[in-house]
Amino acid sequence: MHSSLKGKHLLATQDWSLEELEELLAVASMLKMQRRMGEFHDHLLRAKTFFMLFFEESTRTRNAFEAGVHQLGGHAHFLTPKATQIDHGETPKDTVRVLSRYGEGLGIRKTFGEGHKYMREIAAWSDIPVINMQCEDYHPTQVLADIMTMKEKFQNALRGRKIVVSWTSAPNYVRPLSMAHSLVLLMPRFGLDVALAHPKEFSLKPDVMDQARKNAEAAGTRFDVIDSMEEACRDADVVYAKGWGPIMETEDEQEGIAIIDKYRENGSMDWVVDQRKMDLTRHDSIYMHCMPYDRGVEVTDEVVDGPRSVVIDEAENRLHIMKAIMAATMAGI
Ligand code: CP
Repeated sequence: MHSSLKGKHLLATQDWSLEELEELLAVASMLKMQRRMGEFHDHLLRAKTFFMLFFEESTRTRNAFEAGVHQLGGHAHFLTPKATQIDHGETPKDTVRVLSRYGEGLGIRKTFGEGHKYMREIAAWSDIPVINMQCEDYHPTQVLADIMTMKEKFQNALRGRKIVVSWTSAPNYVRPLSMAHSLVLLMPRFGLDVALAHPKEFSLKPDVMDQARKNAEAAGTRFDVIDSMEEACRDADVVYAKGWGPIMETEDEQEGIAIIDKYRENGSMDWVVDQRKMDLTRHDSIYMHCMPYDRGVEVTDEVVDGPRSVVIDEAENRLHIMKAIMAATMAGI
């Protein structure tokens, strides 16, 4: 790892070169191997502190960062707006200028409102690396764990493989676009052809689509948009399907939920990953999801618990990627 990653913010993968991302993935694989071998690496972040500021809940992100920094010899502080003076209006500038004096890294999750703008403002005033733990537009630590998982499952041979990035009719609340955005932006850079599938109301943001097409053109990969999960699944190597909101259609939560629910009417399975759709994919295809998923609504038990599903390996890789990110940006290893 070259020292230029020390102090570097990770707010979106698009801000990092492919070489930097490859180096990060190599460190993550090394740390994973060392852990498997029972080797400790708790000298890497000894006595260093990583702050985790969560505006929303988390299982994987929080625990992967917290366990990860412990394994590297450091310590994590779990912060929320209520547990700090942020809820009383303390500004991003004042908050981060103080935290910069206490520790060596800061992660933020803020998926609703202007989370990404908030993170950029924090980063502008920060003396320590700022890591996006998910905002409304990007989820870099998840998509890096995803690419790590694909490299493992396909022995690094990703060029020419086809990934389906599909919408699902996930219920109860409006989910951010961050995973769909992150996948369509990053997958072409690693040589994958993208088939983006969604109903008409679920378009991604135009600036993200423009950049994703540019990434695909630069990489010489395909980028197709279709309105059928079933069609998209034909000859796919990876099926990655999760819900997101009709953000380009409405910002009203109840209207958004009504549009989402429409696609489950009369027991429709059109936007559910089931065995019938997986049977259309290639013989060695894999099913992925960042978790949490809605069983029976986004994916059937048969698929998510079946032999093609790599969701638990994918979740495990969050740990190794988080450790690599912290070691690289906080210590420059
Ligand atoms: N995939 C993911 O970010 O999970 P959490 O919301 O549990 O952190």
